[in-house]
Amino acid sequence: MSPARAAALDVLVRVERDRAHAAPLVDARARRMPPREGALLRALVRTTLRHALRLDHVLARSLDRPVASLEAPVRAALRLGAAQLLLMDRVPPHAAVGETVAALKAAAPRAAGLANAVLRRVAATEERPGRVDLGPGAGPIERLSVETSHPLWLVRRWVDLLGEPAARAALEADNADTPVEVLLDPRGEPAADVVARLAAEGLPLEKVAWAPLAYRVAGREAGAHPAIRSGAVAVVDSAAQAMAELVPPADVVVDLAAAPGGKTRCLLATGRARRVVALERHPRRAFRLASNLSSAGRRDEVLAVVADAGRPPLARGRAASVLLDAPCSGTGTLRKSPEIRWRLRPEDLRGFAEVQERLLDAALDLCAPGGTVVYVTCSLEPEENEEVVARVLGRRADAFRARPDAGSLPDPLGAAERGTGLFRVAPGPWNDGFTASVLRRAPGAR
Ligand SMILES: C[S@@+](CC[C@H](N)C(=O)[O-])C[C@H]1O[C@@H](n2cnc3c(N)ncnc32)[C@H](O)[C@@H]1O
Repeated sequence: MSPARAAALDVLVRVERDRAHAAPLVDARARRMPPREGALLRALVRTTLRHALRLDHVLARSLDRPVASLEAPVRAALRLGAAQLLLMDRVPPHAAVGETVAALKAAAPRAAGLANAVLRRVAATEERPGRVDLGPGAGPIERLSVETSHPLWLVRRWVDLLGEPAARAALEADNADTPVEVLLDPRGEPAADVVARLAAEGLPLEKVAWAPLAYRVAGREAGAHPAIRSGAVAVVDSAAQAMAELVPPADVVVDLAAAPGGKTRCLLATGRARRVVALERHPRRAFRLASNLSSAGRRDEVLAVVADAGRPPLARGRAASVLLDAPCSGTGTLRKSPEIRWRLRPEDLRGFAEVQERLLDAALDLCAPGGTVVYVTCSLEPEENEEVVARVLGRRADAFRARPDAGSLPDPLGAAERGTGLFRVAPGPWNDGFTASVLRRAPGAR
């Protein structure tokens, strides 16, 4: 039996049944496999999760009952098999059917016959990506929803928010694989020398314009390269690096929701902060932050604190720069966490907003008069961004939304800014999506 398919089926069932996140489950299993099987496991899980809606439409034609009525392992196996048949060119159809049915046999032996028959029918269909037959009654939003495999409510919302062409581009970007992006941490050496050394060690990097230390790894999975452990580079999306660029330089920056430490590391590597006070509510995640920064050789520059950022154990009104990278729905990260699109409900946004509002109020309290709070989420949704900001600012006469000097903004934030200090960047061919607001506390505030 194919270990990658058995592991993929197990992950897909756990993601659905236990509401688990796919990435850590995949990572843990891939680490124990030969590299080729591990890469296949990653591709199987991400393709199946991303395209679940589209796959269900194809499967429905070969089934005499709704896909939703099947037991979880059977549904997962059918999606997994159909994903290989329809979307993964390099998998031969006999392996897609045979190996997937073999994996299901171990979990649900009595369903193997059904799975075999359905997948053989799918293998024989003419249906291919971009040619999903929805029948005559389907409107353009429904079509976009199925073709890009995103829930209808989210597609409707993004079309309203971004316009149809930009929404389509963002939805398609959520389904594309991108090269790994890293933060280069040259630690006093000229960046060009470090790049040349890494290329000689087998890690070729290409510069990304978004942020000063953002690079793309040319043509390989960077996660396993020894340079990652040596501290010269860290895997950090270029969009995340661009967000850190909005933080005004300061001797000490307070990072209020800091684990696993990607933006903390950006602030230190770019010199925007000499030291960072990094708060994180969850002890395990705080430990991970501390150990990440320590293995990067930056232990002495970070004070990691386990605390609720809504009640920070820090003096009020003292910090010149505060970063709040708030917990959020994550609608800008559907490429890396595809399960979010099937789990999130529009009504969940209110719960995120309540937490965000409490944390943003606390962030403004910590900020010194004349100082800046950068409020960031990896969500595109107005409820979690401008609406939170508007409510908090509505209660406080001492704070306002600021517009950083356009010349100092990283590309493409200058283009994304709408002249108000609000930056919304949709997921793109290279980047995750995010929204950021730059808030100032009035100089004379007490
Ligand atoms: C978006 S992530 C931060 C990512 C991080 N800034 C980075 O770049 O690596 C949000 C973090 O906030 C933490 N968190 C959630 N609620 C919190 C709270 N009330 N106080 C502090 N941290 C919190 C979560 O555990 C999570 O680690």
